[in-house]
Amino acid sequence: MDIYDPSSAAYKKARRQYLKTTKSRTKDLDAEWTPFRAAEKRYKARFPPPDLSHVLDLSSATCDAVTLASGQSFYCNGVEIKFLDTNESTSSGVGKAFAVPHVPGLVILPSFVSPQDQRRLVQWALRDHARHPNETNLDAHYILPNEGLWNAHLNSDAPLIRTRAYPEFRCCIHRSLRLRRLRLFRQLSPTALISRLRWANIGWSYHWGSKQYDFTKGKGRVDNEIGAICKRAVSAVNWKEVFGQSDEEGWVDEHWRSWHETYEPDAGIVNYYQIKDTLMAHVDRSEVCATSPLVSISLGNAAIFLIGGLTRDVEPTAILLRSGDVVIMSGPACRRAYHGVPRILEDTLPDHFSLKSDGEGFSSWTSYELYMRTTRININVRQVFPKGFDPGLQVEN
Ligand code: OGA
Ligand code: MN
Repeated sequence: MDIYDPSSAAYKKARRQYLKTTKSRTKDLDAEWTPFRAAEKRYKARFPPPDLSHVLDLSSATCDAVTLASGQSFYCNGVEIKFLDTNESTSSGVGKAFAVPHVPGLVILPSFVSPQDQRRLVQWALRDHARHPNETNLDAHYILPNEGLWNAHLNSDAPLIRTRAYPEFRCCIHRSLRLRRLRLFRQLSPTALISRLRWANIGWSYHWGSKQYDFTKGKGRVDNEIGAICKRAVSAVNWKEVFGQSDEEGWVDEHWRSWHETYEPDAGIVNYYQIKDTLMAHVDRSEVCATSPLVSISLGNAAIFLIGGLTRDVEPTAILLRSGDVVIMSGPACRRAYHGVPRILEDTLPDHFSLKSDGEGFSSWTSYELYMRTTRININVRQVFPKGFDPGLQVEN
């Protein structure tokens, strides 16, 4: 990557920017930062570019070098990792799964999704999912086209997209240059708007203001293929190896013993990150099933994922997530752990996103590839309610 080369233009530009923005900053500003905040700042920094040598990369040679037997622990960058038994095999050989014992319930399945499925999921996320009836971040501000934003972006005849804001200006829009500029601001091309797409809801509707699910909006569908991949990931793990020796408080019910039958995803979000986007430290605590697996699929450019503990005072572990990797967050400790994404790593789109031949019927793959050059997509799927439970029916009683 260019930013690591001090003679490169990218490095010099980042340095100039850094000196300009930090000129009047007091030295001890960072004294108050929690360990999580400090790590976020470090990985986010454009200058100096972050040292990635402490980032756990479970698909790297260092970790592979160990002759692994199921249940065996080893250390990767000073972090204990447990190699788990799986019933999976992937295109890259035997599917591997790793637990991180100091965050009980955290499981990483590197390259779990095949390159072909990664491309399919990207198409799904952009063309099929980011459109009505699924809510996106853009719906609050724009009247999105019925054909879906992605299809409008590909369609050179698609009309401009109008914003919902300032309707009172509509009548006097021709009167002044200022208002004409406003009008330009109010109408955007689908192509300009596609880079502002940040999230699309899956399943039960999530209300960002109250940080709660809005069950009055009914139960949105979870796409069959997404549900199947998540279930396959949960079934691939031998949960006894993860939780078998656990005597953790609040985890006496041992629900994990039946996850192979009871795990049923019913909500979630697709995150669309552009290179400089980040996701701040947070806990996903709105689900009734507070310990059920949350399955997170990474697509496109790689990212640094930070996971800490119950407060921001716990020093987080940094994990490299590449396209095709699946992370499962489960159990009381891991589901309540602060986590976030301080950085997307530019120029890390894998080669299998550059389809030379069009053997899979991907008529317009080039547009997906172009978009994905500067993007990471994360499909983050949760279980809100126990399988078969319908809050609508409960309200009626
Ligand atoms: C989330 C989340 C992680 C990621 O959407 O809640 O934590 O890897 N995403 O993008
Ligand atoms: Mn989260």
